[in-house]
Amino acid sequence: MELLRQRILQDGKALSDSILKVDVFLNHQVDPDLMQSVGIDFAEHFKDQGITRVLTIESSGIAPAVYTAQALGVPMVILKKQTSKILNGKVYQTNITSFTKGTSYELTLSMDYISSDDRVLIIDDFLANGEAAMGAVRLCRMAGADIAGIGILIEKSFQNGRKRLIDAGYEVYSQARIAKLGEGLIEFVDE
Ligand code: G4P
Repeated sequence: MELLRQRILQDGKALSDSILKVDVFLNHQVDPDLMQSVGIDFAEHFKDQGITRVLTIESSGIAPAVYTAQALGVPMVILKKQTSKILNGKVYQTNITSFTKGTSYELTLSMDYISSDDRVLIIDDFLANGEAAMGAVRLCRMAGADIAGIGILIEKSFQNGRKRLIDAGYEVYSQARIAKLGEGLIEFVDE
């Protein structure tokens, strides 16, 4: 998606050969106009897939996911990283290890919001090793839902997340695919 690639070049900062900082428009401050364009683009890409729910992981996936859900005319569901007592134990849970952040957490989905009647589109901001996306897939499977596809804003194509998801049988649509990062260098995959 050209608009997102241009914004990454304009405001993104490669902190190293593996980390891209995009706090200006996505991870800390959010540009709603850009997120709406991103959501419309995801909705256009997946419009014929019979999607009934858009699913994302808190926190940075929420903004693009809500605009995607709005454009598709379906609800958006948030996977929680901290279990709330008011969920009353009626939950599916799976453990996620983040290699980027060196942390582990339990991802939680209430049984009330995804069921075997659903066809789910998973949206997330970054795809690195695919741990979070694979966790979202596992939770959908526990709920008996179908997965229509996985939409990513920024894929770090030099890491193995895309391959893992495709090998597991899922469609991955990434709006910006980064081939290479380095100090002051951001290179996209030729498409
Ligand atoms: P993975 O799920 O694909 O394996 O990714 P990983 O665990 O390595 O990433 C964990 C967290 O780090 C995620 O955010 C992810 O969005 C973020 N992340 C990964 N690579 C980058 C990067 O190059 N730049 C930035 N800015 N973030 C990156 P999170 O912990 O879920 O945070 P948030 O959604 O609350 O913002």
